[in-house]
Amino acid sequence: MGFPDTRLRRLRSSAKMRELVKETRLSPSNFILPFFVRHGENVRRAIGSMPGNFQLSVNELVKDAKEAYELGIGGIILFGIPAAKDAVGSEGYADDGIIAQSLRALKESVPELLLIADVCNCEYTDHGHCGIIKDGDVDNDQTLELLAKASVCYARAGADIVAPSDMMDGRIAFIREALDDEGFTNTAILSYAAKYASAYYGPFRDAAESPPSFGDRKTYQMDPANRLEALREVELDVEEGADMVMVKPAGPYLDIIREVKDMFGLPTAAYQVSGEFSMIKAAAANDWIDEERVMMESLTSIRRAGADFVITYFAREAAKLLK
Ligand code: PBG
Ligand code: ZN
Repeated sequence: MGFPDTRLRRLRSSAKMRELVKETRLSPSNFILPFFVRHGENVRRAIGSMPGNFQLSVNELVKDAKEAYELGIGGIILFGIPAAKDAVGSEGYADDGIIAQSLRALKESVPELLLIADVCNCEYTDHGHCGIIKDGDVDNDQTLELLAKASVCYARAGADIVAPSDMMDGRIAFIREALDDEGFTNTAILSYAAKYASAYYGPFRDAAESPPSFGDRKTYQMDPANRLEALREVELDVEEGADMVMVKPAGPYLDIIREVKDMFGLPTAAYQVSGEFSMIKAAAANDWIDEERVMMESLTSIRRAGADFVITYFAREAAKLLK
């Protein structure tokens, strides 16, 4: 039946009608809030390129994490800034390192909050790459050892989920085996399965103080031009035992999110990365766009594309708006 019997505007004719037929809904529990932690006491250092985000010391992190929990946010993900960097990123897998300390403090003070630990080496290595360097490039197989050590260290400190973001081949199986060997059979793995070599990570590298000191990440992160390769990446990670998979960035890769969700049906995350966040903030600061509306529209679009949950620097603001 066509017009005039069918009038699609009928279901848009009032706010209550639109609310009834809404296909995609947002809830604070769909959001994961990232945090950057560094050593010290009472540290709350603003990150210039990411308004409203800070490098926090553990005691300040605990305060903000409690607020996130009270807002009903689904969980938090931690990134660490170490006291010292070296060639193998030792603080990344140290039991007295910044992430292990943070996890223990959070488990103790906000026990019901879901804790995700990002697992990668770039914040901890002096060269800023995501693994061990051999002949000018990241050596895949040697790096696996570091990732496994970090994953076990974070599980021991209280992480509910470890999220490897390095893009080494074979890491999911390697990490799963290491966790199981240590008895952490219930620690889940959220794989950054399709992670692109993206210019949208720019502000994050300020926040985490982790830019590569030479070259780029194109020998391990994916080419933005590739779609079939993303599906192969996800397929391998699923076979290797990933519990959940992630597409990153989110907004510019909605097609990938949709295909991954349809093809594999796993819990699927999308990371609305620093550049996506900061572009909205910057445009809003110029009064070029309505910040709240663009924030909610961007998050709705990512969920509509098939993401079950979204890692986003807007988590707190969006959750407040939804309350
Ligand atoms: C580190 C890592 C990065 C991000 C998350 N984990 C940066 C990178 O790979 O260069 C980016 C997050 C963001 O931009 O918000 N492996
Ligand atoms: Zn990395």
